[in-house]
Amino acid sequence: MTAPILEVQGLDSRYGRVPALSDVSLEVRPGELVAIVGANGAGKTTLMRSISGVQPASTRALRFDGQDIARASARKRVRMGIVQVPEGRQLFPALSVEDNLLLGTFARGTREKLDEICAMFPILVQKRNDPAGTLSGGQQQMLALGRALMTQPKLLLLDEPSMGLAPRLVAEVFQHVATLKARGTTIVLADQNARAALAIADRGYVMETGRIMFSGPAGELLHDEKVRQAYLGM
Ligand SMILES: Nc1ncnc2c1ncn2[C@@H]1O[C@H](COP(=O)(O)OP(=O)(O)OP(=O)(O)O)[C@@H](O)[C@H]1O
Ligand SMILES: [Mg+2]
Repeated sequence: MTAPILEVQGLDSRYGRVPALSDVSLEVRPGELVAIVGANGAGKTTLMRSISGVQPASTRALRFDGQDIARASARKRVRMGIVQVPEGRQLFPALSVEDNLLLGTFARGTREKLDEICAMFPILVQKRNDPAGTLSGGQQQMLALGRALMTQPKLLLLDEPSMGLAPRLVAEVFQHVATLKARGTTIVLADQNARAALAIADRGYVMETGRIMFSGPAGELLHDEKVRQAYLGM
């Protein structure tokens, strides 16, 4: 087996005195699509933010691309290729679609990617000059994805891309995520929509109250009776 590109061992994080993550360990191999699933408040966002470095955390080990990144700033991690699409998308609503995409290259990447991303999301070409804030929820999620892809990420962290979207759009966004994986992008996908996330993932981790409760191949988690009953509501 190839060495993991991301290795997290014994990660703890807290908000003030309140623990949010306890002893979380996970690994991601190059080219994998790994799903982090769990209910509201399970700790998915805190974990994603701990990996990208915007959330303080302590770890026994945190390695990316062969380097110890435990003390690396969020900015350094972006330059190394860890790029997050944050929960809620965090676009610049008053700026045009194109400017939002180009801002993706601020820390990393080049504008040469623009054509490729526009080919993937034709709607962004059509709306190129419109303020990002005028796009629908699904279109904004495509833009947030496109902006992250402008950086040519080595590891793409997607936090709750299905948030607030109608089922048809959830399917469309997840289809794009599956396409990115098929083209070789390494992805960690955190989503409350466990079924949809596990359906496109290679492996999954099931979280509850800041801990990993189950992990394994996504297909096995989807069919595991305990996981189904407790976490998938089926
Ligand atoms: N800024 C904050 N201050 C204090 N506690 C927080 C803060 N953000 C999150 N928490 C707490 O940390 C825990 C984990 O929250 P987190 O947002 O990581 O969960 P989540 O799995 O992403 O949830 P969701 O599915 O709603 O996005 C929860 O108990 C939450 O209340
Ligand atoms: Mg969250």
